[in-house]
Amino acid sequence: MTDLLGNMRKSHTCGELRKSDVGKEVVLMGWVQRRRDHGGVIFVDFRDREGLTQVVFNPEISFSVHEKAQVIRSEFVLGIRGKVVARPDEMVNEKMVTGAIEVFANELKILSHAQTPVFQIEDRVEASESIRLQYRHLDLRRPQLQKNMIARHTASRAVRDYLNDRGFLDIETPFLTKSTPEGARDYLVPSRVNHGCFYALPQSPQLFKQLLMISGFERYYQIVRCFRDEDLRADRQPEFTQIDMELSFVGEDDIMEITEGLIKEVFKKVRNLDIDTPFDRITYEESMSRFGIDRPDMRFGLELCDISDIVKNAGFKVFASAVKNGGLVKAINAKGCAGMSRKDIDDLTEFAAIYKAKGLAWIKVKENEWQSPIAKFFTDQEKAALKDRLNMETGDLVFFVADNSKVTNEALGQLRNELARRLNLIDSNTYRFVWVTHFPLLEYDDTEKRYQALHHPFTAPLEEDMDKLESDPLNIRSRAYDMVLNGTEIGGGSIRIHSTELQEKILNLLGIDKEEAQEKFGFLLNALASGAPPHGGLAFGFDRLVMLLCQEDSIRDVIAFPKTQKATCLLTDAPSIPTTTQLQELSIKVSRVDEG
Ligand code: AMO
Ligand code: AMP
Repeated sequence: MTDLLGNMRKSHTCGELRKSDVGKEVVLMGWVQRRRDHGGVIFVDFRDREGLTQVVFNPEISFSVHEKAQVIRSEFVLGIRGKVVARPDEMVNEKMVTGAIEVFANELKILSHAQTPVFQIEDRVEASESIRLQYRHLDLRRPQLQKNMIARHTASRAVRDYLNDRGFLDIETPFLTKSTPEGARDYLVPSRVNHGCFYALPQSPQLFKQLLMISGFERYYQIVRCFRDEDLRADRQPEFTQIDMELSFVGEDDIMEITEGLIKEVFKKVRNLDIDTPFDRITYEESMSRFGIDRPDMRFGLELCDISDIVKNAGFKVFASAVKNGGLVKAINAKGCAGMSRKDIDDLTEFAAIYKAKGLAWIKVKENEWQSPIAKFFTDQEKAALKDRLNMETGDLVFFVADNSKVTNEALGQLRNELARRLNLIDSNTYRFVWVTHFPLLEYDDTEKRYQALHHPFTAPLEEDMDKLESDPLNIRSRAYDMVLNGTEIGGGSIRIHSTELQEKILNLLGIDKEEAQEKFGFLLNALASGAPPHGGLAFGFDRLVMLLCQEDSIRDVIAFPKTQKATCLLTDAPSIPTTTQLQELSIKVSRVDEG
């Protein structure tokens, strides 16, 4: 059989050769990163996933090989046999790990020609993200993305090793299934054999993993795809991956300990970083009060401070009426920022408006006075109390928002993050983990006029709040917890309800009556009645975790084939319009096709 490779077989990677390899005959296979012709000698930066090696085609080494090398261009695929040679001292490239050597080629096989790539394969790429996604096979050749994919692999391997060693079983769960309520819209898949019926792609394996506990598997995990039709952001994809886990006979502490250990192991294996455990824990209530948000970035201060009691009778009506209407007035002291320009303050006011703040009041603390559009409204007593509460010192700049508690917290919570970014308070090499616990069990949905589960309807209420089930549902705390890393929710879970009776009660609170409960979750209710162990679990957003491990800003940079903000795949052009035959087979009529 003829074989293009002949007797050539790769002996080393392009990131491997060092001074100690000098003198060896090697075979490299890979891509041409760059070709330079220096007066008769051709230099090629030769690339594979492990790195770059300089290959030299010199007519004095081999006239015919040098001749053949004339045609090679960027992204050609080559096989090269040659000898490892030490570079002269003045030519050593300290920036390249292989910079001490080069390979003098004595044999060349051109394995593939390549069209000029639509963009140069390098990390400082100028092409737009949409071009990069359209030519993802090229984009993925960039060293940064290769590094990210390798890190992702290392992470998933560390996860599997860690969990396998601790008695977790990897069990697959269906993709073609029934709706699982995680709060987003479902992706539906029509059934050809059951006309008019649709499967839902799982938003998570939540119910299946609970069933596995009820079946007695005790410890389950899966690195699994989840599907959610929701508005997309930098850290959200319509299909994303979870490290999904569930354990029987455990409480919160057990789950936290095991998942902290998992994270510690992953950071060690991927980044060689030592993460300290146990992580801090704060309640949801404390998190909202201090940070205005349930996923606080703990790398910097700028905490929120409630001043409602001080300003409830203030002459500034905006503040006083917010308090009278049951809202909140809160402030952030940006220490030493009194020099901030009006334009910057106006920008921040616009920023706060994105989160519905109706304004952003401020006070600059100058040597002998407060410079502020609102200072005139406060009595000396109120001023003294504010100064004391907010630790206002000369040079400080304090921001205020007055509104209902939701808007006040959200606007100031986001402003806190934005201020930290602008003031460079964030050390991007620090990893600060925190558990947020005791989330409310329910929230009230104003549009649908009913309660909704904050986490999901299978989360157990806190034992000591059980008496509020009828009297005060909004103040029931749950046994849910989130793991937050540097302001990103990387995982969430809960201890579950394991009795049919309580599960039915909670579904009922959510406005799901017995009949609907049977229809939607009958299989779970039946299973709960068949002997269910106490159980709980957690799911990590694997893409988010890898994004933070790789210090990327978008999960698209750690997913091989991600979708755009509009949930399209620019590479394959999905989603696309099916053929008439396909639709007929499915008995589906499309009434309107939106263009673009
Ligand atoms: P939850 O809905 O909190 O919990 O999801 C778990 C984690 O998954 C990540 N995540 C996402 N990542 C990327 N794109 C998305 N669209 C997306 N949505 C969520 C987040 C989140 O913390 N079944 C429960 C877990 C449990 O109770 O055990 C669940 O799915 O990092
Ligand atoms: P005004 O009286 O509208 O000129 O507002 C005086 C100052 O209060 C301005 O700096 C506004 O940005 C600010 N302000 C107005 N409404 C609010 C609010 N709800 N919360 C905080 N500051 C506000």
